[in-house]
Amino acid sequence: MLGATGLVGGAILELLAARDFPVAELRLLASERSAGKTIEWKGETLTVQAVGDYSIQGLDVVLSSAGGSVSAEWTPKLVAAGATVVDNTSYWRMKDDVPLVVSEVNPDALEGHKGIIANPNCSTMQMVVALKPLYDAAGIERLVISTYQAVSGTGKGAIDELRAQARAVVGGYDVPEPQIYPHQIAFNALAQAGSFPDGDDHTDEERKLINETRKILGDPGIRVSATCVRVPVETGHSEAVNVETREPLEPERARELLAAAPGVTVVDDPAAGRYPMAIDAAGKDDVFVGRIRRDPGNERALDIWVVSDNLRKGAATNTVQLGELLIERNLLNRG
Ligand SMILES: NC(=O)c1ccc[n+]([C@@H]2O[C@H](COP(=O)([O-])OP(=O)(O)OC[C@H]3O[C@@H](n4cnc5c(N)ncnc54)[C@H](OP(=O)(O)O)[C@@H]3O)[C@@H](O)[C@H]2O)c1
Repeated sequence: MLGATGLVGGAILELLAARDFPVAELRLLASERSAGKTIEWKGETLTVQAVGDYSIQGLDVVLSSAGGSVSAEWTPKLVAAGATVVDNTSYWRMKDDVPLVVSEVNPDALEGHKGIIANPNCSTMQMVVALKPLYDAAGIERLVISTYQAVSGTGKGAIDELRAQARAVVGGYDVPEPQIYPHQIAFNALAQAGSFPDGDDHTDEERKLINETRKILGDPGIRVSATCVRVPVETGHSEAVNVETREPLEPERARELLAAAPGVTVVDDPAAGRYPMAIDAAGKDDVFVGRIRRDPGNERALDIWVVSDNLRKGAATNTVQLGELLIERNLLNRG
């Protein structure tokens, strides 16, 4: 594992143990800062090593979540050393010869890999799991998406920032200057998840949602409009998605299709106040869907509310599922 000391890395470690992932040796790699730290895993004490030319030798599968620039440098070296890499960063996702795979949506895309498999962005991942059964039944013409994204999507430092600011506001003392986000996140909503690349009026997170959705569903014709918002939730991204289908699709049929879809749990009883919530999704692997209803302004569109743990299905769960699929389908070492 590369990025073993991070938030996603921690969730991957939990899942590897819980799912009995077949492991002969588990090697924990991170930066020089973490070298020598120990992590308990399945009753063993494992020592973290710095990623380096020596520590990357002899690995079959690398589940990697150490940031884009680290991945750009080390993924090719890992592949050259014989590993198959499942990478969580955005660096490889849109490269033509790198499959971008969600285990419930396009697992067959793994077949053509050349040593690197990309794990999608968290907000895209949970949404396409919910969209896949609707897409298969009626096609998708257009999506209008608003996200409400948790701070754990930005890593450990962002959780610390939210907590420190929240303590200050509640305690009535000076709120510490933001370090991670451009503005105070506690008791606020930022119409900026990600950053604005030069000359773009969309954030990189919004571009990921647009481009990755088309790549995973294999349909460049889908029109996608996205606004990604950061909210002071610790874990669990929520998304309001307006889905315009190509063929007619009744909300009742959509509810049935979603209820039968792998990796989806429908929570949809608005009269009883039941709909998916981030605090319920946190720590779970499924994608939760509710508020399934007809868009009153468009007879060909449905509105749905999609919630999932960004560290689980949005990152670690899919990474581990892809590792399992690579082993089951005998697809390792294609580098
Ligand atoms: N959080 C999410 O919901 C989520 C979802 C999908 C994808 N991702 C992506 O996954 C990646 C990690 O996210 P995270 O939330 O786990 O971040 P994080 O908590 O900040 O952890 C970052 C990890 O990367 C390691 N790292 C940093 N610089 C390194 C270097 N130069 N060499 C080797 N290792 C290095 C860190 O090791 P040290 O502890 O030694 O610094 C740590 O293990 C990011 O690319 C992120 O975009 C995150």
